[in-house]
This record gives sequence, C-alpha cells and structure tokens, in this order.
Amino acid sequence: MNDKSEQTTVQSGLIKPSSDESEASFDEASERDDAKSLETLEVRLLLDAVKQYYGYDFLNYAPASIKRRIQEFQKEAGCHHIAELISLILHDEAMFGKLLRYMSVIVTEMFRDPPFFLKLREEVIPWLKTWPFIKIWHAGCATGEEVYSMAILLEEAGILDRAQIYATDLNEESLQIARRGIYHADTLPLHEENYTKSGGSGSLSQYYRQRYSSLKFHRRLSENMTFASHNLVTDGVFGEMHLIICRNVLIYFNRDLKNRVFNLFNDSMCLKGVLCLGSRESIRFADIDSLYETVDAHQKIYRKKTVVK
Ligand SMILES: C[S@@+](CC[C@H](N)C(=O)[O-])C[C@H]1O[C@@H](n2cnc3c(N)ncnc32)[C@H](O)[C@@H]1O
Repeated sequence: MNDKSEQTTVQSGLIKPSSDESEASFDEASERDDAKSLETLEVRLLLDAVKQYYGYDFLNYAPASIKRRIQEFQKEAGCHHIAELISLILHDEAMFGKLLRYMSVIVTEMFRDPPFFLKLREEVIPWLKTWPFIKIWHAGCATGEEVYSMAILLEEAGILDRAQIYATDLNEESLQIARRGIYHADTLPLHEENYTKSGGSGSLSQYYRQRYSSLKFHRRLSENMTFASHNLVTDGVFGEMHLIICRNVLIYFNRDLKNRVFNLFNDSMCLKGVLCLGSRESIRFADIDSLYETVDAHQKIYRKKTVVK
C-alpha cells in the first residue's frame, strides 16, 4: 500500500492522509490563507490547547493534512464546529485519545514497499554484517509490522543475535500492539506476497504461530526489540545508530520540523550509518543534505559520509 492509497480504520471511520501535504508551518499557512477563515483559527486554537494541556505539539505538521484529519474527527464526534472539540478533548481524556489516533495516521504493513526491503537485503545488510554489535532505530514504528519485518531480515542474514532494535512512536496505543506482536490473520496474503517480493526465500509462516484469526510472531524475533514512547517533535537523540528507518512519517511535517528531525537523526547516527526514508520523502534540500551520500535514490536510502568536502 502506498501513501496515496493509504488509509486506516480507526474505530468508527476511515482516515485518508492528504496527498496534498504543504510545506508551510501552520502559522504561515494561516496568514496566507483566508485571514477571515474561522475554521483555520479554530484549528489553531485546538492545536494550542492540545499542546498546552496534553504536551503534544502538532503546530508544525503540514497544515492541509492536519486540518483534514481534524475535520474527520469532528464528523465522528458529531460537532458542528471545530471549536467545540476544544472543550470536548480538554474535559474528556478518552476523546483526546481518539483525536490522537486521527492525528497519528497509524498505517503500516509488513515489508511495505518490498523493493525497499530487497535493497536493504542487498545493499545494507552486508555492511551491517561487518559490525560485532548493531544498533537500529525505527522512528514512527506505528503498530510494529515494519520492525518485525526488519527482525526477519536480520534473522535470515544470521545477525539477529547481534542486533538491538529500538522502535519508537508517539502513540502509546500502537506501541502496545507492537509489543504484543499479535496481528490479525486477514492481512497474511498481502504480507506473504510482500515478503516474497522482498527477496524472502521461505515462508512467513516460519516466524509466527496462528490461532484462529490471530497470529503471534515468535518470541525469538522480539527478544532484542525495545519499544518506547518518543516524540520526534520534542524528544532527544538515541546514541550511535548504524541504521535509522523513518518511513512515511516526515510527509506529515513542515520544512522546519523535517529539518529538526533530520538533525536529530544525524546526531544519533554513527559515521557511515544508513538513513532510510519513505518513498515520498527525501533528504535532498534538507540542512544535512551535504553530509550524506545516496545509496539508492529510488528507495530513499542514504549513508552518512565520513568526510565532508
Ligand atoms: C504512516 S505511519 C508509518 C509507519 C511505518 N513507519 C511505515 O512506514 O509503515 C506514521 C507513524 O508516525 C507516527 N508519528 C507521527 N508523528 C510522530 C512524532 N512526532 N513522533 C513520533 N512518531 C510520530 C504516528 O503515530 C504513526 O504511527
């Protein structure tokens, strides 16, 4: 599934991320936008309330998509105006939890974009094999399917025991699903197909146990995984990573926030470390651009240079 078509079922409805992400900050967009747009003002007030009361800062997310997701939530909540959501979420934490789900866009799948995972096998895994100890960070891991896919890749390369995988997200609810490693079996045909296309030689069924409509990945895969809450907007660095994977997260951020996150990744990366982004994301034109060389432009794989010329 790609971002154009990505959608997620969140309790009562479908949320489709915008395919029209803007680079401007919410402030800039508001100014440029119809200054009289009451809705834009209401969105701004809602985001301020969320930041002040709950500490989540969405002010530097791409405005067009954040507004659309708030409007979807407004529909579900049955409110006539966005302003009504402010008192709703301030006085009812469970409602804030629902809003957070809309803001997070928790969409993922195993071996998502199989050619990307094939490139990882061919270009990055051989380099990882040269290290006695390997540190990997999945930033914005959602419900964890991407992380279990990575563990399978490492297992098949014989280096899972040497790896420590940190997987983070701002959404605690999805992290809980990731920690359990239990998924619905109806996604199996797609995941099996993705696995094969990504160069998998066996069958995914080697890695999980199925009971009725659920499957649970083997404990061995998650032994070296640590799932933790981490907000890319406000939280700090992770040390000396060999590989950082942050796919389909930055598309929701404006340029300033993207730069903050790129700097965070750069400070968390060892020399020659590899950074992987989603198909519609790029390091080009970012502040740290000159510090990285391209491993694969199409699959958005970059390597930190040892010497900057
Ligand atoms: C579309 S999913 C991408 C999941 C996975 N990386 C993939 O490509 O399949 C985006 C994820 O980014 C997370 N996210 C959004 N803003 C974030 C932030 N500021 N800090 C950490 N995670 C964030 C969301 O909660 C969501 O789980």
